[in-house]
Amino acid sequence: MPDESIPLSRRRWITYAGATIAAPACVRHARAADVVRFALGVASGQPRERSLVLWTRLTGPDLPSQVAVHWELARDEGFTQIAGRGTETATADEAHSVHAEPSGLEPGRTYWYRFEALGQRSTSGRTRTAPAPDAAAGLRFALASCQRFDHGHYAAWRHVASADFDFVLFVGDYIYEYPSLPVAVRFHEGGAVRTLEQYRARYAQYKSDPALQAAHAAMPWLLVWDDHEVDNDYANLQGQSLQTDFREQRAAAYRAYWEHMPFPKALRPSGPDMRIYGRYDWGSQVCIHALDDRQYRDVQVCPKPGRGGSNVVRLSDCPQLLDPTRTLLGAAQERWLADSWDPRRRWNLLAQQTLMARLSRAPLDQVAYWTDGWDGYAPARRRLLRTVADRQVPGVVVLGGDVHAHYVADLKVDYDDARAPVVATEICGTSITSRGAAQERVNEWLRHNPHVRYGRSDQRGYVACRLDADALHASLMVVDQPEDLASAVAVAAQFVVDAARPGANAA
Ligand SMILES: [Fe+2]
Repeated sequence: MPDESIPLSRRRWITYAGATIAAPACVRHARAADVVRFALGVASGQPRERSLVLWTRLTGPDLPSQVAVHWELARDEGFTQIAGRGTETATADEAHSVHAEPSGLEPGRTYWYRFEALGQRSTSGRTRTAPAPDAAAGLRFALASCQRFDHGHYAAWRHVASADFDFVLFVGDYIYEYPSLPVAVRFHEGGAVRTLEQYRARYAQYKSDPALQAAHAAMPWLLVWDDHEVDNDYANLQGQSLQTDFREQRAAAYRAYWEHMPFPKALRPSGPDMRIYGRYDWGSQVCIHALDDRQYRDVQVCPKPGRGGSNVVRLSDCPQLLDPTRTLLGAAQERWLADSWDPRRRWNLLAQQTLMARLSRAPLDQVAYWTDGWDGYAPARRRLLRTVADRQVPGVVVLGGDVHAHYVADLKVDYDDARAPVVATEICGTSITSRGAAQERVNEWLRHNPHVRYGRSDQRGYVACRLDADALHASLMVVDQPEDLASAVAVAAQFVVDAARPGANAA
């Protein structure tokens, strides 16, 4: 656990659990003190049994159009036992980003990595491969989402960086495309983000944060996006403002996302398309399906006049909510998921963007739903959970974000039947910084949705998850003062999920 006494807000760099927050090595090696080539830190991701992805992006003025960037991967923190090295060409066309892909690695092993270019060396990062397929390994991960920069400082990331996780599971809203309001904890540079250069600049600003850099440098990340990496509430090729050039905006946003995330070169987007959904296996007991509920969805029904995006509507005013042909994942991804559930695993984790449980916003005689989440696509939710029930898929735990609240819920095929069995469990993590709905409203919603066991929208944080063959333990972590990087971070509540019996139990 971190030493809460250290005045972090006043320190430029500090080491947590082997992860150096800023880049003293860069400064030491720099020819000119004001030119830092690795100012955005390092990252790793997509941990597989024998491979993973290492990321950085060069910074500073006068970068040549092509730069050779050397990387090395070691079995020890001192880089005396080198496990791999190579050279990538960082190009201006790809914002001088680097996506190195060492392979032939040992399963279930910790590695350290670093980069060198233009006479400077990056800080080093720590990463880890997935366990061997026959290893009955446990898993520890941090579930996180929604890190709106101008809503707070990243005390949650400071805390994650110091903890012992196998990876961070980040389920969307890495950046926000908005300008900042005059009252903000800190300010977005520039206005609303629409172009490739603007998206690149926004990512660079977020990634300049030392606590976020520390969380990346401390462990690999598994990532999916949500809407704000592109445009609030976008659906498929429709922007919230029905902008006519949304295809180009999405292409620019996806491109910048790939440039700034530890995804492999094979996933580099082509125009407005980038496949991010996929499956990750963790030893013999766990598989993780990472979903994309933005790129392929049908547009939201019953929007506000003249707009795209979400609305809150009564079912009686919007019968299209019950249209069984509509989909949140797209037909191909729905089929892929249905075929990929793994009956041999103890745990089938589902990493996706938003709250899956029904959360009706009014008494049941005048049911109202938020149309952007799964409630706006209830027949698709029913299809997914019906498959889980019919095939008795073991250990299904749905992990999400988006709604800026900690929610823990029992998932059912039929929410209208009070006796319907629980078929899966949901843990939705609150935001790192982004503000949530008023707690009084959530308290009201909870009264009408008894399958939602816990709901707190007034706290920021993340979820610390730990699982073995028998149980998953979820600790809902909360930040005491989101505007203070040095804030205390504590456990607000704990839940346990039995591998053999779906549903959440308060610990
Ligand atoms: Fe968000």
